[in-house]
Amino acid sequence: MIEPAVPPTQRILFVCLGNICRSPTAEGLMRACANAAERGDRFVIDSAGVGGWHVGNPPDPRAVAAAARRGVDLSGLRARQVCRTDFDRFDLILAMDGDNLSALRRLSPEGRRARMKLATAYAGPGAPEDVADPYYGGTDGFERTLDLLERVSDGLLAAAPE
Ligand code: 4NP
Repeated sequence: MIEPAVPPTQRILFVCLGNICRSPTAEGLMRACANAAERGDRFVIDSAGVGGWHVGNPPDPRAVAAAARRGVDLSGLRARQVCRTDFDRFDLILAMDGDNLSALRRLSPEGRRARMKLATAYAGPGAPEDVADPYYGGTDGFERTLDLLERVSDGLLAAAPE
């Protein structure tokens, strides 16, 4: 995680199961979205997984390829597991699905700072609750992940103070 020079207004952690498909995609898209709006220095953005199976690995090649087709480079990201300090270091922890949110609630210490929500709370009307896990499916699943997470990024940017 690279700390911006200007104090951030919002520290956001995206969380999925493995931190190789959905949450790194969300991290890359949100960073690109904030940078495009010249507000990259107003956010600290990171991602992590509830599980630890892929720690240290780059994102799934299918996620990297799908994001690259939209001009977003995920190749430098590496998976890590959620840790207790995340609940104080971040303002907002956004889970990709209901199972991830339940796991976060079980892991979160008493008196934590971070608010925890489903990422799709920012996707606007008509969005599904869960960002479906594309890991066991085909390329179209990764495209749907990007479509939904683009809406989440736009919503987060619109909701953040200028
Ligand atoms: P993610 O997808 O939670 O979006 O990163 C998955 C990645 C790996 C596995 C499951 C989901 N897995 O079972 O290894």
